This record gives sequence, structure tokens and C-alpha cells, in this order.
Amino acid sequence: MTGFGFRGGRLACEGVPVADIARAAETPVYVYSAGSVRAAYASLDRALAAWPHAIHFALKANSALALLALLRELGAGADANSGGEIEAALRAGFSPPQIVFTGVGKTRDELERAVALGVGAINIESGGEAERIDAIARGRGVRARVALRANPDIAPNTHAHISTGSRLSKFGVPIECAAGLLREMARMPGLEPVGLHVHLGSQILDVAPLGRAAGLLAGLARAARDWGLALEHIDLGGGLGVPYEGGAGPSVDEYAAAILPAVRETGLRLIVEPGRYLVAQAGALVGRVADTKAYPGSPRFVILDAGMTELIRPMLYEAYHRIVEVEPRGGAATPCEVVGPLCETGDTLGHARELGPVEVGDLVAVLDAGAYGFVMASNYNRRRLPAEVLVDGERWQIVRKRQSYEDLFRHEV
Ligand code: LLP
Repeated sequence: MTGFGFRGGRLACEGVPVADIARAAETPVYVYSAGSVRAAYASLDRALAAWPHAIHFALKANSALALLALLRELGAGADANSGGEIEAALRAGFSPPQIVFTGVGKTRDELERAVALGVGAINIESGGEAERIDAIARGRGVRARVALRANPDIAPNTHAHISTGSRLSKFGVPIECAAGLLREMARMPGLEPVGLHVHLGSQILDVAPLGRAAGLLAGLARAARDWGLALEHIDLGGGLGVPYEGGAGPSVDEYAAAILPAVRETGLRLIVEPGRYLVAQAGALVGRVADTKAYPGSPRFVILDAGMTELIRPMLYEAYHRIVEVEPRGGAATPCEVVGPLCETGDTLGHARELGPVEVGDLVAVLDAGAYGFVMASNYNRRRLPAEVLVDGERWQIVRKRQSYEDLFRHEV
């Protein structure tokens, strides 16, 4: 499902040699495979087909408008985590009812905008937020569609920075307080409670905790039904992981088998909010070798024109991404440190990797970078955000231009 593979000894994205793209678009550049996104979406949709469901793509993973438009055409909804992501969803053609607005610490402006638009649901993170939304909606003479995010205190086995379902994290309302708040919300004239929400974390490879969270949320939904609150949906968040080391990750069928039994008991429509699963494997970050060095007593360094500014995951989460030569020269592979050009030792994309005898100017691809890659890129060291390219079969297009130096200084006085 990656969309990338070697053809005639050269890395290609679908039908297009990656080297052709890199020559035309400059490096570093993000390259995405439309076919891979389609395949991932179809597999998840198929796995959940036994129950009414909606797949709301988590824009935080990748909000390139061209990818969003593709996902919308496939039938996805949107999961937006900020005012900017709501605007991105609208620009990509999602209608407000197709947008779920999630996120801790939503500002007054963001809530005003979401209520004015009439988004499908605002996922409420606290009692205070419920009151603020109620006041905004009453001020407008409307009822805002809301869901309550419960924190189930379940730790999935993933990196601490991206684990959100534990009691010690800032997310949601503790599950044992959720029923009480839901009752209060049902009494607020500006709120129309339509669902329940949970999100355990990201890059989850063991689906069992996702099933346990579904069970707890289903219990809450049944309790609500028993005291007369008719909800519409149960939103189980995102989190399904991908196999960054290659091989097989958790299958969508395992995922469906873990969550669907609990959802069925509620009779409610299922919403899921996958980000990574839909786009991670569809993207690669392509850079060029800018320098190499090997001195006695030091590792062999392969220094790219791409680094932590383009892909911060290795530095931030010690994340592993496979790194391959785009046009391998052949010859023995030896261990090297694949690093970026930034002024930090942590600017390492790959530690102790086996690469062939690469030379300055050679192209290298960092795989599975379609999720949380470009969206977390920065201008550190006054570097320009890279271009993004979408490949579809034999065709490809720059869907976001690389920043110019002019862009870098545009907002300064
Ligand atoms: N829904 C909510 C409420 C979320 O907070 C997230 C991700 C998702 C859905 C989508 O999760 P996914 O299916 O992509 O796992 N920057 C980190 C990942 C942060 C995820 C934050 N929340 C990384 O690069 O691994």
C-alpha cells in the first residue's frame, strides 16, 4: 500500500521515477501517492462495512489541500483540530456537517466559527468548554451539535508523547465524570449532545486497548440511552498504527473486530478519525546528498539537504523511517548516520543505516513520511518549507510550491 517501489533499479512512485520529480521540483520535496491513499481508505472502509460508519480523516496528519480533496471524493469526512484545519477542510470542499472539531484548548474565536458554521460535532473537552459553547450558541439562537470526549484512562502501548488516553494526560473528561457532565449538557439549551468521543493515542499497534476503550464508551452510551438521551454516534478517534520497519502492521480487520462488537451494542453510528493509517505510507521525503564524510574514529556521515525541519519525527519521537537510495549505484552497503544540515546533533534522520556508496548529488528517500511530515515542518534556520507533489498513475503535479525566500520575509516589518 506504499505506492513506492523499485522499477528497473530506480525508485518510482506509482508510474513516475522519483528522480524525475526531484529534478523538476527541487529537493527537499514531499512526494505522495494518490493510489496509496485510495487503497488505504478502501481497506478501512471495507473492514468497517458491516456497521454504519463515517471515516473522518484527521487533518493534523496531512492537510495538503490536494490530498484532502482526494479523501473527500473517496467519501471521507474531516476531523479538524484548529481553526486553521477547519478552514483547510472548507477549502478542500468539505461541508460544515462533514467536519468534526476536536482538540483541547479551543479558543473563543474557534468555537464561534465552529458554531456559526454548524459543524457536524464539536468534541467537548471539559465542563467549562461545554458552558462556553452553550453561551455562544444561545447568543446566536441555535443549538450546537456536540459530543463529549471521555478519557478512559487506558494507556496504549505507544510513545509517551502521543499517548492521550491516560488519566495523567490533558485530554477529555475522566470516564467516571462523563455521565454527570453529559446529563448537564443535555440540560443546556444551546447544546444538542449527539455523540461520545474517545481517542487513546497514535501509532497504536496492539488493537486490544482500542477495543477496551470502545467497550467503556459503549457502556456510557447505553447509560445515556437508559436515562433517555438519544445520541447519534460514537466516535472512537484515530490511532491505528503503520509498520514503519516494513512488514505487516495491525490489519484493519483486526481493528474492526476489536471495536465493532461494542459499537453494535449501542446501535449508534460509528465515527473513526484515522490520520496516519490513511496517509503515512503514501508519502516519502526526498532529499539530496549534500556532503559525505568518514574519518577514523567517527561514523560515516551522509548529510542530506533535508533534516529535522522537513521531518521532525525521528528527533521528537525517536521514530524509525526506512531510508533508501533513489538510484542505487550498487556496491557494498556500509553503516552510516543519515543526517540533516541543521545545527543540532539531534538532526538525524536515520542512525546506523546501511547505505551504498552514495555521492554528493545522489537522491535519498525517507519512506512512510506522508503523516506528520510536512505538517510538522518548520522554518528553523530560515529554511524554506519544501514543495509537495501528488502522483496519480503516470501523472504528477506540484500541489504546493516550495516557499521562496520572499515568502520567508513577507510578514516582517
Ligand atoms: N483524533 C484525535 C483527537 C487525535 O488527537 C489524533 C492524533 C487523531 C485523531 C489521529 O490519530 P492517528 O490516526 O493519526 O494516529 N505527531 C505525532 C502524532 C500525533 C497524533 C496526535 N493526535 C507523530 O508524528 O507520530
